[in-house]
Amino acid sequence: MAVTRTFSIIKPDATRRNLTGAVTKMLEDAGLRVVASKRIHMTREQAEGFYAVHKDRPFFGELVDFMMSEPVVVQVLEGEDAVTRNRDIMGATNPADAASGTIRKALALSIGENTVHGSDSDENAAIEIAFFFQPEEIVG
Ligand code: CMP
Repeated sequence: MAVTRTFSIIKPDATRRNLTGAVTKMLEDAGLRVVASKRIHMTREQAEGFYAVHKDRPFFGELVDFMMSEPVVVQVLEGEDAVTRNRDIMGATNPADAASGTIRKALALSIGENTVHGSDSDENAAIEIAFFFQPEEIVG
């Protein structure tokens, strides 16, 4: 299995509850390595741009407002088959559907306040990493 990278966001519901370390520990315990990380307060432009694929969905306004509401931690994660590994440890989007042992089962509050984002493909991981990080900020 190839070592690849994925993009992760520790969302406002987690930073508000001081769970940055708890989430990161679950990612690391799942075999992912944090090779870039920064705490930012997303602008409207960043939130709308990052989630542009969802702009016609009924929850788009709520999603953007939430992502701007408190700081987030954007991360690049590296590991074997990182996209799938990260999605497995995150669990289903809706915490009510998430398997036990996953981040969202353990920590998420709702489908909107669901603690973490993770890329859904290698192609989107590259796009999402480039949205927030310069190449020199990633140190593997
Ligand atoms: P994420 O993986 O960040 O990608 C898009 C986000 O939209 C998703 O996680 C959820 O947090 C959010 N989302 C998806 N469906 C809904 C919904 N029905 N209501 C509110 N937010 C949603």
